[in-house]
Amino acid sequence: MCGIVGYIGDKDACKVIVEGLKRLEYRGYDSAGIALLREKHIDVTKTPGKVSKLEKMVSGLRPAKIGIGHTRWATHGEPNTVNAHPHTDCSGNIAIIHNGIIENHSSLKTKLTSLGHTFKSQTDTEVLAHLIEEFYSRTENLEMAVRLALKDVNGTFGIVVLSAAEPDVLVAARRGSPLLIGLGDSENLIASDASALIRHTRDVIYMHDNEIAVITRTNVSLKNLDDEAVEREAEHLTFDLEQIEKGGFAHFMLKEINEQPETVLNAFRGRLIDDEGVSKMGGLREVEEKIVNARRFVILACGTSWHAALVGKYILEQYAQIPVEVDYASEFRYRNPVLVEGDVVWAISQSGETLDTLAALREARQRGVPVYGIVNVVGSTIARETDAGVYIHAGPEIGVASTKAFTSQLAVLNLINLLVARRRKTITAEQGKEIVEEMHRLPGKIRQILDNTAQIEAIAEEFKESRNFLYLGRGVNFPVALEGALKLKEISYIHAEGYPAAEMKHGPIALIDENMPAVFIALRDSTYDKILSNIQEVRARKGNVIVIANEADGRLKELAEHIIEIPETLEILSPILSVIPLQLLSYYMAVKRGCNVDQPRNLAKSVTVE
Ligand code: G6P
Repeated sequence: MCGIVGYIGDKDACKVIVEGLKRLEYRGYDSAGIALLREKHIDVTKTPGKVSKLEKMVSGLRPAKIGIGHTRWATHGEPNTVNAHPHTDCSGNIAIIHNGIIENHSSLKTKLTSLGHTFKSQTDTEVLAHLIEEFYSRTENLEMAVRLALKDVNGTFGIVVLSAAEPDVLVAARRGSPLLIGLGDSENLIASDASALIRHTRDVIYMHDNEIAVITRTNVSLKNLDDEAVEREAEHLTFDLEQIEKGGFAHFMLKEINEQPETVLNAFRGRLIDDEGVSKMGGLREVEEKIVNARRFVILACGTSWHAALVGKYILEQYAQIPVEVDYASEFRYRNPVLVEGDVVWAISQSGETLDTLAALREARQRGVPVYGIVNVVGSTIARETDAGVYIHAGPEIGVASTKAFTSQLAVLNLINLLVARRRKTITAEQGKEIVEEMHRLPGKIRQILDNTAQIEAIAEEFKESRNFLYLGRGVNFPVALEGALKLKEISYIHAEGYPAAEMKHGPIALIDENMPAVFIALRDSTYDKILSNIQEVRARKGNVIVIANEADGRLKELAEHIIEIPETLEILSPILSVIPLQLLSYYMAVKRGCNVDQPRNLAKSVTVE
């Protein structure tokens, strides 16, 4: 989720690029950088922090007619100056900006190092600069060098490359990360989204996967990576800036809900070994023994991340057969928690900055146990202060109500479960393979849910005036009930409670009447028969029932009016699907009630106070 801008033309490239990067900052703002080409020489300026910092550093530089710039959302390597883009080759004559992840970067780095290349950063991107350098020394043609280099690359990329020896061209290529070319009058631009171009032109060509573009001041030539010409008509953009930044969605929250097929895929990317039915996570490699041999896991988190931790407890206890304790970070730090040798502590945090989680992990480290992180924001304080960890790679989450980070946290907890369960031999290779296969199918199943939202919107319309909601689930979907209730409270200000469905009889059932909707998660899993009885108990008291169910569930059809169907999957993966209709339900309720979805009252995206 980084932002990319390239410019060639008669204007001051530096100004055009910096202004474009500012528009792209919602894609990430860990660090920023620019490479400008003048008189066959490339000058690179980069800095940690926001584009405004870069802007100050480059003000007063001599104008250039061609350049590339980047605002980074870190995935590999902390957000400091060396890891900021653009990256350069050994000679400094090739500069590159990149959005995406190069999965085979470590093997490429080993190979390139043996050929004499010297690396400056910890990023995956830098290998591309050296790989292109390697092919450039043989071809002396930037387009050809980029094409040959990309043949060796696994993973995703949106790249723009500059060569001091070819001062009149930008070469761009895409696989999996967006890029579009803006067509101007004696100038052309390229960017990862239209908001960076629209001040200069509204005529654009969207690049497709596996395409390469050679862009000069007056011409754009598009080919596929097999060197065959591609013809594509330019499109004229008519929408406004705000719409573009939200990718055409009305709110960031809806955009982020819709990103989940990709974000879950990104959490799994490069971490599944299909034929062995196991997972691997680079960030845990060195501490794998400690994790596998742990006597107990203690997971610390707040808010939505705490709900993810609870799901983790169900999964890990069932499959990896490891005792798991889940604690609110704020409670843990003020108790006198007993941690003993063999305990492994995990801190889960989207932002990596939540003060209570940070304080709790410091408390745990002081007691001498290892602490590992499951974090979204690379280089954040929690990521830095844990002994090791896994990034969830969900990209920047802007909407205050967490959505895509939750499903990515669940994806990573499942990866950890798979690793530990296989290594502890509590599941067989066959079972592991079945889990891996189903993990590959998840993004498609999420997409299926997102393609059918009309019914959820209609349910929101019907219940938008309700004052209270009950969310009920069992087993691995009990924490999902908690998360569904939290989402509703957070953005639509309707009181909602989540409960384990059977616990309802010990109190909440007293609240049920015709004005109290109850949302059940009733999937065909190990708790199915029991939860059907719980639904009947609510129906008998005239409660309105909304059910998240598996497709074609005849038994449920007789029990409930409102059934939202989701595809079947393994029980341990089912929360990744069952939470999505609940995110959408809260979203549509909030919109219909006229609430500020992306910035709900009194809340903060990251709580850095006690
Ligand atoms: C705040 C946010 C929640 C988030 C919680 C924990 O309350 O509004 O969405 O779940 O903090 O944040 P973290 O960044 O640590 O996951």
